[in-house]
Amino acid sequence: MKRLAVFLSGRGSNFEALLEATINSELKGVAQIVVVHSNKPAAGGLNIARAHGIPSVILEPKQFADRPTYETALIEALAPFQCDLVCLAGYMRILSQVFVREYAGRILNIHPSLLPKYPGLHTHEQVLTNRDKEHGATVHFVIDALDAGPKILQSKVSVLPNDTVDELSARVLEKEHILYARAVKWFCEDRLKMDKEKAVLDGKPLLFDNDYNDTDKDIRDDSED
Ligand code: GRF
Repeated sequence: MKRLAVFLSGRGSNFEALLEATINSELKGVAQIVVVHSNKPAAGGLNIARAHGIPSVILEPKQFADRPTYETALIEALAPFQCDLVCLAGYMRILSQVFVREYAGRILNIHPSLLPKYPGLHTHEQVLTNRDKEHGATVHFVIDALDAGPKILQSKVSVLPNDTVDELSARVLEKEHILYARAVKWFCEDRLKMDKEKAVLDGKPLLFDNDYNDTDKDIRDDSED
């Protein structure tokens, strides 16, 4: 079983979906979440960790001189947990080289847009402002540039004429919960790797273009599971 750390800053619905998958579905017997880290002591996701007896590492940035010092402390705090994979799940903090090098090729993120469109914050608002017809979510490997690492999986949703930010983000979130567990499963089964800044599944690079015409279907949904 692979040992996962989940990093979060907020309510933790992606964490909860991964946790649920480790207990009841596709990650059962494949992965276990051994620690949760947050930069926000009040993050709702920490309550979920507590309720399940999962230890948490809470480090507040203001207690550290700078980002490298923060990340060095985080690396030290995580060391005893011997994590195989770090899953960023609504972690609202950029990781620098210090952390990314330590866990190179072993950090995943979920982002609520069809990357490379809309890295950063407020993706749903931008989609609505620009009157995009489609939107979605991406799981990718993390490198030390914001929302820029090799893409692993994307899932898209149609944008409906009168969508609000809340409605649209809720539909994207549903997709996120499905996508993330699938990518984590691939990684934990040693099928998915980052090689020279490409995501490689079963020995073949995962290629993406932006010509998505397969609404409401997972792109690269060709796994046998
Ligand atoms: C999700 O939309 C995730 O993609 C983004 O932040 C949000 C976190 O939601 N990075 P939750 O805390 O997992 O519910």
